[in-house]
Amino acid sequence: MITIEDIRKNPEIDIYFQKTNLFLGEMGAIVHDYGHANIVAENSRRILETLAFPKREAELAEIAGYLHDIGNIINRYDHGRIGGVLVFYFFLKMDVTPEEIATIVSAIGNHEEKTGSPVSSVAAAVIISDKADVLRARVRKTDFSTFTTRDRVNYAVEHSELKVDPDLRKITMELTIDLQISSVMEYFEIFLTRMILCRRAASHLGCDFELFINEARFL
Ligand SMILES: [Fe+2]
Ligand SMILES: [Fe+2]
Repeated sequence: MITIEDIRKNPEIDIYFQKTNLFLGEMGAIVHDYGHANIVAENSRRILETLAFPKREAELAEIAGYLHDIGNIINRYDHGRIGGVLVFYFFLKMDVTPEEIATIVSAIGNHEEKTGSPVSSVAAAVIISDKADVLRARVRKTDFSTFTTRDRVNYAVEHSELKVDPDLRKITMELTIDLQISSVMEYFEIFLTRMILCRRAASHLGCDFELFINEARFL
């Protein structure tokens, strides 16, 4: 059975992985490095483990989480669906079963807020973990005058934390935002579609989704 270490150590995947972050950097897009891949992988696994889903599902969520943004190697637009096709191609050469390929590529192809849906527990875990990784450190630009609203909103987030409560069946995202940089309303305006998708994903896992910004509850 394929493991996250097999993916990390695969030289072909690793080249695409590094080039993706390089090309996105040329566009001034936010950072998509090992840090983002690893945190999404870890949180995807943690969500399913904590909620007592089968161990292998948690492992597949970790792999899908690690690879979810690889489609950016071809284009930022539709990178979820492109990524699903690319990973399908990688896995054909790595002896992964069709069942596991199906679970992973569908999760990757459904992580974007515009077209994604929590089609499985693995997809739901990846959606929540990806959307929870908003942080100042991911903004690449240094000249504030060139910031898009999205950059500003990411830059405003000083701390983000994802909590999973298996007893209350609750997934909570807690953010600390610098209100000098972005108002809570601005944050909410930009991230509303993401938060709605997170709520649907949590509900797929049999959980409620809560969002706290500067200790006030918004969802
Ligand atoms: Fe993405
Ligand atoms: Fe991502």
